[in-house]
Amino acid sequence: MTPPRNDALNRVVEHLERATRVVALTGAGVSTEAGIPDFRSSEGGLWNDLHLMVSLSSWGFRLAPGRFYASILRLLPPLLTAQPTRTHYLLAEFERRGKLTAVITQNIDGLHQRAGSRNVIELHGTYRRAHCVDCQHAYTFEEVQNKIQRQELPPRCHRCRGLIKPDVVLFGDLLPSEALARATEAVQQCDLLLILGSSLVVYPAADLPRQAREAGARLIIVNLEPTPYDHRAEIVIHAPLGEFSQFVGDRMGMNLQPLGVPPQ
Ligand code: APR
Ligand code: ZN
Repeated sequence: MTPPRNDALNRVVEHLERATRVVALTGAGVSTEAGIPDFRSSEGGLWNDLHLMVSLSSWGFRLAPGRFYASILRLLPPLLTAQPTRTHYLLAEFERRGKLTAVITQNIDGLHQRAGSRNVIELHGTYRRAHCVDCQHAYTFEEVQNKIQRQELPPRCHRCRGLIKPDVVLFGDLLPSEALARATEAVQQCDLLLILGSSLVVYPAADLPRQAREAGARLIIVNLEPTPYDHRAEIVIHAPLGEFSQFVGDRMGMNLQPLGVPPQ
C-alpha cells in the first residue's frame, strides 16, 4: 500500500485544526491493526465465510444457538487480546483536547473506551454485556464466559432457562434506538465528520455521512478501500489508518500511547 500522500494529510491536519466540533464515525478498519479481523476486506474479512455470517445473524441465533456460540468462541481470542491502536488513542486525545465531541462506532470491541474516549456511541452494541431473551435479566460478559467454560452451550438464564444473547446488534436486529438518536444528533451538530475504517455499506450507520453533510459538516474519509461516499467527502485517503494517525498525531504534537507510557 502506498503511504498516504502528504499534501492530503497536511490538508486533513488543517481541517482538524480549524474544526471545533469533530465527530468520528469508526468501523472495523480501526481495529484490524489490533488483530481483530474486519468483515469485508477481500483478505481476511469475516464475511468471506458465508456460513459464519449466517450463523452470527439474528436468525442464526434463534434457529441454531449452539452453532451461534460455537462461532462466537472462534472469534473471541483476538477480541480478548486486542489492545487499542494509534487511531483509538488519536481520537481519545482529540476528545481530551475538547476538539472531538463524540465517537460513533460500529465496533463492539470496547477499544475506544479502553483508549480513554468517554463519549462513545456504540451503534452495534458491545460484547461486554448480554441479556436473557425471555426475562431480560442482564449478564456481564464474564458471567457468560463462566457458563461457556462450564460447557453450558448455549448459555441459559439461571432464572428462567431462557437463551442468553450478547448485547450485539446482529443482522436482522433493530439498532438500539437511544444510540441511534444520540448518533443522529451528534452528526447534525458537528462541523467535521471523520470517517475511519468503514466500508459504509450497512445502514442506518451508513446514512450518517449524508445527514452530517446536509447539516453543513465537512466529511473526511480514511479507508484502505473506496467507499460509496468518497465522492461526497472533502478529503479521501486510501491508506492504512495506523500511518494516518501517526502522521496526524506527530503534526499535532500528540503522544499516541497509553497514558503514562513514554514515546519510544
Ligand atoms: N486502515 C484503513 N482501512 C482499513 C484497515 C486499516 N488498517 N483495515 C481495514 N480497513 C478498511 C477495509 O478496507 C474496509 O473497507 O476498513 C473497512 C471495514 O469495512 P467492514 O469490514 O465492512 O466493516 P464495517 O464498515 O465496520 O462494517 C459495518 O457491518 O457486518 C456488519 O455489524 C457489522 O459493524 C459491522 C458493520
Ligand atoms: Zn431469563
